[in-house]
Amino acid sequence: MANVKFFSGNPLPLEMHKTRTVQKLTLLPVEQRRDAMLDAGCNTFLLQNRDVFLDMLTDSGTNAMSDKQVAAMMQADDSYAGSETFVRLQDACTHMFGTKFLLPAHQGRACENILAEAFVSEGSVVPMNFHFTTTKAHITRKGGSVEEILIDEGLNINSTHPFKGDIDMAKLEELVAKVGAENIPFVRIEAGTNLIGGQPVSMENFRAVSAFCRSKGIRFVIDASLLCDNLYFIKTREEACKDMDLVEITRELGCLADIIYFSARKLGCARGGAIVTNNRTMFEAMREFVPLFEGFLTYGGMSVREMEAMAVGLYESLDMDFIMQAPQFIQAFSDELQAKGVPVVTPAGGLGCHVNASAFLPHLDQSQYIAGALAAAVFVASGVRGMERGTMSEQREPDGTERFAEMELLRLALPKRVFSLSQIKYAADRLAWLFENRSLIGGLRYVEEPQIMRFFFGRLEPVGDWMDKLVAAFRRDFGDSL
Ligand SMILES: Cc1ncc(COP(=O)(O)O)c(C=O)c1O
Repeated sequence: MANVKFFSGNPLPLEMHKTRTVQKLTLLPVEQRRDAMLDAGCNTFLLQNRDVFLDMLTDSGTNAMSDKQVAAMMQADDSYAGSETFVRLQDACTHMFGTKFLLPAHQGRACENILAEAFVSEGSVVPMNFHFTTTKAHITRKGGSVEEILIDEGLNINSTHPFKGDIDMAKLEELVAKVGAENIPFVRIEAGTNLIGGQPVSMENFRAVSAFCRSKGIRFVIDASLLCDNLYFIKTREEACKDMDLVEITRELGCLADIIYFSARKLGCARGGAIVTNNRTMFEAMREFVPLFEGFLTYGGMSVREMEAMAVGLYESLDMDFIMQAPQFIQAFSDELQAKGVPVVTPAGGLGCHVNASAFLPHLDQSQYIAGALAAAVFVASGVRGMERGTMSEQREPDGTERFAEMELLRLALPKRVFSLSQIKYAADRLAWLFENRSLIGGLRYVEEPQIMRFFFGRLEPVGDWMDKLVAAFRRDFGDSL
């Protein structure tokens, strides 16, 4: 890691790269931002990117690629069978995880579909530190259920615990004793636990869960989509691992898990996905689903160009200069917001800065989609597009009642190497203004509500005329500023 001391003031996160290709941005006037938000059904997923200033929706497929990744795309081998591109990707996965077998799939949820098809059936129970939206949807679609066995501290929004994504071993043992190992197709750990604020999992926990699963004959699966940030935290927060090379860590994970899968829209900074394993039986149980759902085994529904970029991206994910950038920027964003009194999840994790919407808008009821309302308000105030991670992202119970999320978070994702510190400071400034004016923000209600993953396509409307009041307050305080 770059060890750079500053002569004056506090050190800043210092990028170990420079920018050579840029994309022009526009910032619409506040009235147009409000109109765009209303046109989008108050759902940031439905905004047009041309209306967005800083796109902090996600890091999925939006990380900046390196010159070497782009160059590698030119050597892609299009052969349907026996493609050299596949071999290069397989070599990269073997280098990273020490695994023999690779099943390519077009993105993370496609890997989850294959895992669910191969191993989940009616009545299956899948224990995991915390669910991810697509993971849970695939498991429940097959008649299984998800049991979250996160440590209690994981749901404590403001904590000093360095690894809030850890599984609680006592809860795991209790659950296995209750439902029986034979009903558990696999235990899943999600590295860099997305929905609780990108919180990491410790190496100690990976080891403990693996040993327990082996003792019970249960498969152990790691979702490594957010592994990059998690690696940084293992290196910097876990005393016992501080002298391990990154590749030693990833190879140990490859030994601890039976199966690792990931979205390469995140890990590897490309657009794709993969499942890797050393277990021939498990590989064969999953293999048939790749040509059925994805494409031939050598490309799994991905463009070979993306596979080349992904292979290089995986090697680059073992470079501390690269992996430190995003968590350090997220820390800086989080510190800036906290200094201005804006409530955020602590400690800062990976993926993005997570604003605690419940503390931001204590006057709103959860039935009015607190985090969704905050996401809409932030866009109106700043042109920054975040993502609701709260009740809107939950699915209703089978009887139609609302399932309230454990946390109402607004995620402001920082795709790797994309935003500058001044852009982060701008976003923090507008959020601070919004926090001062938080009493103006009202709730949302659904006007169109899909049954599955409603947060993607659902349309909502503001309860009352709060958006107009927000626009008027903006004009009062900022004059003719954008
Ligand atoms: C932890 C985790 N698992 C799985 C997925 C699904 O990956 P994809 O979006 O590539 O389908 C995501 C995507 O955000 C994720 O964060």
